[in-house]
Amino acid sequence: MNLSTRVAIVTGSGQGIGREIALALAEHGASVVISDINATSASTVAAEIVANNGKSIAVTANVTAQEEVARLAEQTISAFGQIDILVNNAGITRDTLLMRMSGADWDQVLTTNLKGAFLCTQAVVRHMIKQRWGRIINIASVVGLIGNAGQANYAAAKAGLIGLTKTTAREFAAREVTANAVAPGFIDTEMTRKLSDNAKQEFLRQIPLGYPGTSRDVANAVCFLASEEARYITGHVLNVDGGMVMS
Ligand SMILES: NC(=O)c1ccc[n+]([C@@H]2O[C@H](COP(=O)([O-])OP(=O)(O)OC[C@H]3O[C@@H](n4cnc5c(N)ncnc54)[C@H](O)[C@@H]3O)[C@@H](O)[C@H]2O)c1
Repeated sequence: MNLSTRVAIVTGSGQGIGREIALALAEHGASVVISDINATSASTVAAEIVANNGKSIAVTANVTAQEEVARLAEQTISAFGQIDILVNNAGITRDTLLMRMSGADWDQVLTTNLKGAFLCTQAVVRHMIKQRWGRIINIASVVGLIGNAGQANYAAAKAGLIGLTKTTAREFAAREVTANAVAPGFIDTEMTRKLSDNAKQEFLRQIPLGYPGTSRDVANAVCFLASEEARYITGHVLNVDGGMVMS
């Protein structure tokens, strides 16, 4: 997979899965814009890519703020001249049982995980349409397919993201812009290290392969969907979950 002519934006790539996606895209030759709400972590990842002879800049942006997302697209164009790949990865959790969930917890998760992806897609897709090539990859979750007690807001946002992916795929297919979702299962990151031992054991019990995935497992799937080789795949949800959800 040669991505050396491609320019990618990865949201939430200051750490975790997003960081690994950015590093993997850069290893395949892409120029990568590291975007995160956290300026320090974004700069660190961009510097890491540059130190390995890759091309990268950091842009601090909150995906929920339309003007910041517009600036992200503008800075990408002025640095690299085009936008070919968008990975909507920024996401948060505010877990609690539905009976106890506040409206603020609901709104924050829906706004970051779902509206953020909508705003980023809208800001970059016009560039993809003009050049008649684009890849939009949304990081969903298996929780968006099967639900999860304690994650009503997160599961609803991720299910919504799958609907957004399929609609984006239909609206822009005629312009050779594909849209796909990657649905990770239980991946070893900061997000999952916060879970109780009981919750971790419960997840592991449901995974036929018997162990958690790594951020690199998710990144490999993203690189494939971003490549020329995946040109005939659109509107698809690719589970990276050790067999946890089979449909
Ligand atoms: N870890 C898992 O097991 C798992 C499983 C399924 C899906 N996912 C999804 O993968 C994605 C990455 O998860 P992770 O585990 O790496 O999480 P993480 O918390 O380690 O990293 C998330 C990154 O997003 C950034 N971010 C948060 N809000 C933002 C905003 N408003 N604007 C811009 N950046 C923002 C954070 O600063 C952070 O760098 C998320 O969408 C998550 O829902 C994770």
